Amino acid sequence: MTVVPSTHGERLAAFENVNFSYEDGTEALRGITLDIRKGEQIALVGGNGSGKTTLAKHLNGLLKPTTGRVIVKGSDTRKEQVANLARIVGYVFQNPDHQLFCSTVAEEVRFGPMNFGLAEPEVERRTERALEIMTLERLKAEAPLSLSLGDRRRISIASVIAMAPEVIILDEPFTGLDAGEAESLMDVMREMNRQGTTIILITHDMRVVAEHSDRVIVLSHGRKVFDSKTRTAFSDLKLLRECGLIPPPAIQVAHHLREYGVSPEITTVEELADELARVLREQQ
Ligand SMILES: Nc1ncnc2c1ncn2[C@@H]1O[C@H](COP(=O)(O)OP(=O)(O)O)[C@@H](O)[C@H]1O
Ligand SMILES: [Mg+2]
Repeated sequence: MTVVPSTHGERLAAFENVNFSYEDGTEALRGITLDIRKGEQIALVGGNGSGKTTLAKHLNGLLKPTTGRVIVKGSDTRKEQVANLARIVGYVFQNPDHQLFCSTVAEEVRFGPMNFGLAEPEVERRTERALEIMTLERLKAEAPLSLSLGDRRRISIASVIAMAPEVIILDEPFTGLDAGEAESLMDVMREMNRQGTTIILITHDMRVVAEHSDRVIVLSHGRKVFDSKTRTAFSDLKLLRECGLIPPPAIQVAHHLREYGVSPEITTVEELADELARVLREQQ
């Protein structure tokens, strides 16, 4: 397994040899050890049932390890209240309807900060800002469950943004969003990351992984089978195939052009164009 040490800041969370079994005996996590550092943009990938959601729920204390430990900001999640962990790790559920329970959009978004016991003006400030970021102002007074899946998704994200956590986990957030909405969600996340928020994105979209993550963690049958910089991940086609991952077209083209001196360590169309220009210039 390839492990490239992270160059990011302080350690926010650590999994120490975590195993987790559901009540029916399903072993969903097996021997997971990893660190998460401030400022990272992590893509968590793997087939259906590989343990991504189970791992994510361990980070905010919704699930506790059967054996091993999860440490968040120095505290063992088994000893810490879920309410305290929610200030550090915000989890956007795979299914927004598992997260929405208030009668209006504004109440839904206000719920988290209000529960933290923040002063009313601060609750309002955060609510307004989160509604604005997710372009929900217009829908403030609507009932969340009467809205479209895309709107419900954006409400669930806004309610996590309003809690201003240090880590935001998005669990397959593109279901129900069109391409434009998905792109603007990733723009929002990129900006939050620029301001210091750690982002963990669970997705099957390899183009998004290539363009919006700096580290890729791959799970298979509850085990971590790969953990490295995104660039390194996409330069190893054999490994990607073993993990059942298909790189985006720009990266596939770079691989086909390796014999001409093109580096496969690119992550975007723009980088491929630059790399081609470099190689062609050098051959003149
Ligand atoms: N509530 C549950 N009870 C029993 N087994 C579950 C439960 N939730 C998930 N699982 C099982 O745990 C494994 C990991 O699931 P999950 O973490 O949801 O994977 P992923 O998010 O990668 O699709 C799968 O085998 C799944 O069927
Ligand atoms: Mg899942």
